[in-house]
Amino acid sequence: MWILLYFTILGTYTAFGAVQTGSAVPGNSVSDAATTRGPHFDTAASKNVTALLGKTAYLNCRVKNLANRTMSLQVSWVRHRDVHLLTVGHYTYTSDQRFRAIHQPHSEDWTLQIKYPQHRDSGIYECQVSSTPHLSHFIHLTVIEPDTEIIGGPELFIDRGSTINLTCVVRHSPEPPAYIFWNHNEAIISYSSSRGGVSVATERGETSRSVLLIQKATASDSGNYQCNPSNARPANVSVHVLNGEHPEAMQHGGNQRMGSSVNIFALLTIVLYTYC
Ligand SMILES: *[C@@H]1O[C@H](CO)[C@@H](O)[C@H](O)[C@H]1NC(C)=O
Ligand SMILES: *[C@@H]1O[C@H](CO)[C@@H](O)[C@H](O)[C@H]1NC(C)=O
Ligand SMILES: *[C@@H]1O[C@H](CO)[C@@H](O)[C@H](O)[C@H]1NC(C)=O
Ligand SMILES: *[C@@H]1O[C@H](CO)[C@@H](O)[C@H](O)[C@H]1NC(C)=O
Repeated sequence: MWILLYFTILGTYTAFGAVQTGSAVPGNSVSDAATTRGPHFDTAASKNVTALLGKTAYLNCRVKNLANRTMSLQVSWVRHRDVHLLTVGHYTYTSDQRFRAIHQPHSEDWTLQIKYPQHRDSGIYECQVSSTPHLSHFIHLTVIEPDTEIIGGPELFIDRGSTINLTCVVRHSPEPPAYIFWNHNEAIISYSSSRGGVSVATERGETSRSVLLIQKATASDSGNYQCNPSNARPANVSVHVLNGEHPEAMQHGGNQRMGSSVNIFALLTIVLYTYC
């Protein structure tokens, strides 16, 4: 039965394609074509959606010429994965309360709202018009999780007097974050504090970057730093400002393994400095 339904869907899709081609016949003015064409999708207003994990997603389906004097048609949303009918017209059919049909009277938009989207919600959703034959438009939903990283973390060792350079990178956020805050030991970093020498440069885009520079590092600059983008998980880094008396090996240290054992040694040095 499902196979049959699937072929029906495929068939109507092809029919819709044919209708579209027909409307391009020369001689028909655009307005003539639009009024005699019957219901059709405005694909520019019914696009694929990339949603942020857990943030309400809206799948829009804009249908032109849906109702006329002779007939009134229904617009439904169907989840393709399991051929599950989610909404019909204004009504939400599924028992999954995260889904909701949104439609304003006289509007051409039939929107499927998905609250708390999860990775498993990614996939194809079908907007279907109950004409004969049915018309279908397929929308791909991709649920993504933004990723925040501080380069060189989670532990950074810096010489006293040098510049702390923390670069935070935010990837896969559907929109650039409105802001990226930096915290030091739970307090928001102020760029106008008496500390001075603190600056931040933020570059927003598909991948956003925020670079925090702290000149002339002192022991009090040690601690936990957090990069906190408005629409992505925060990332932390633990900064250790070394008092200059780090082992010779630090300058000559060759391979990675040597580096990490030096780091542990440096940590011990800090612990000793703190408690002696
Ligand atoms: C009304 O819609 C139906 C179904 O698409 C179509 O066949 C018919 O031509 C339309 N009538 C008018 C007056 O636009
Ligand atoms: C929607 O996404 C699918 C899969 O990534 C792609 O094949 C299709 O062309 C996209 N449609 C639009 C209108 O961008
Ligand atoms: C800070 O580090 C980034 C790479 O992590 C580098 O591109 C940038 O030039 C550095 N800035 C300064 C002032 O050192
Ligand atoms: C990350 O930083 C925040 C703010 O400074 C702090 O509250 C939190 O405990 C830190 N988390 C970890 C895992 O260090």
